[in-house]
Amino acid sequence: MKAVRLLEYGGQLVFNDVPTPTIARDEVLVKIRSTAVNHLDLVEASGTARQILPIDLPWIPGHEFSGVVEQIGSDVAACAPGEAVFGTTSGMGAYAEYLAVKAAAIARKPSNLSFEEAASVPVAAQTAWQGIFTHGHLEKGQTILIHGGAGAVGAYAVQLASHAGATVIATASGDDEAYLNSIGASRVIDYREAQFEKVLREKVDVVFNLIRGDTQKRSFLVLKEGGYLVSATQPVSQEESAMHRVSGVMMRLAPSGGLLGRIGRLLEEGTIRPDVATVYPLQEAAEAWQDIAANLPGVHGVSPTGPGAPRHKKHGKIVLRVS
Ligand SMILES: NC(=O)c1ccc[n+]([C@@H]2O[C@H](COP(=O)([O-])OP(=O)(O)OC[C@H]3O[C@@H](n4cnc5c(N)ncnc54)[C@H](OP(=O)(O)O)[C@@H]3O)[C@@H](O)[C@H]2O)c1
Repeated sequence: MKAVRLLEYGGQLVFNDVPTPTIARDEVLVKIRSTAVNHLDLVEASGTARQILPIDLPWIPGHEFSGVVEQIGSDVAACAPGEAVFGTTSGMGAYAEYLAVKAAAIARKPSNLSFEEAASVPVAAQTAWQGIFTHGHLEKGQTILIHGGAGAVGAYAVQLASHAGATVIATASGDDEAYLNSIGASRVIDYREAQFEKVLREKVDVVFNLIRGDTQKRSFLVLKEGGYLVSATQPVSQEESAMHRVSGVMMRLAPSGGLLGRIGRLLEEGTIRPDVATVYPLQEAAEAWQDIAANLPGVHGVSPTGPGAPRHKKHGKIVLRVS
């Protein structure tokens, strides 16, 4: 099969032939239709975090996918060949024509979503769900501040929190205000113009941080006692959490086919919606990586843009079309 691989840390992505995977008894073989790009792919490939995020080289990137079940292991009862599915990977990567994956990590593809849309969902939507509900314990009537609300994860967090009956405040670029209001944010603070801790009058119950840098440290100032600071990007100081009498946690996505199935039903009934920014063919994965790196300049060695400089303006995920 064709696949995109990284041969060495920091190296170029190569597109060539590799053996098609075989499956274990609890796995399914999926013919991939689309996969999506995550910041994590670039971090893993760079080798900068190899102590905590090691990869086996040569490595096929890709943490999420949509596709059609080609073959099932002898212990698998939950799905059948020919079924359209989406999910997260559980070992090898999804920048490839076929993927062997645990049956427990997949769910039925929502029928109203294209394969490209479905591939964009699993990582961002499950991260948002676990960030705000599992770790942030967000409840109806509470207020949540979401840093990076217009990003791929942030947009699901805004939609899910709003659907749960919370008041949603998001930090984002000012020109994302209308978009964020349309998906459920009641207030948007332009991070380029204002410091959120100076303009927020009321304290919030939960902060969900999707940004690196000092945003996280400043978030302690706006949290109610007993509140939750959940970060998807960097460790949370336990000393500062104790000092401010809040709970602080750095989350790491724990994917689950069961949760993805619940999210799939919300997508199918139109309660939340996916967003695809750009679709590249699989063999253009390197261009897709340059594209996503521009979203969080500074994080992937891309220079931050100066004031007034043009910037990436599309919302949603960057998707690779495989077949
Ligand atoms: N822990 C986990 O399990 C987990 C899982 C998934 C993702 N993540 C991490 O979560 C982060 C977000 O991922 P993503 O896929 O949502 O990224 P994304 O789609 O690239 O979105 C990034 C967003 O952040 C905005 N932004 C940049 N600086 C900001 C600031 N100072 N304040 C407010 N907004 C700001 C950008 O807006 P502008 O373009 O307008 O600046 C953009 O809308 C990444 O670091 C990713 O690695 C962690």
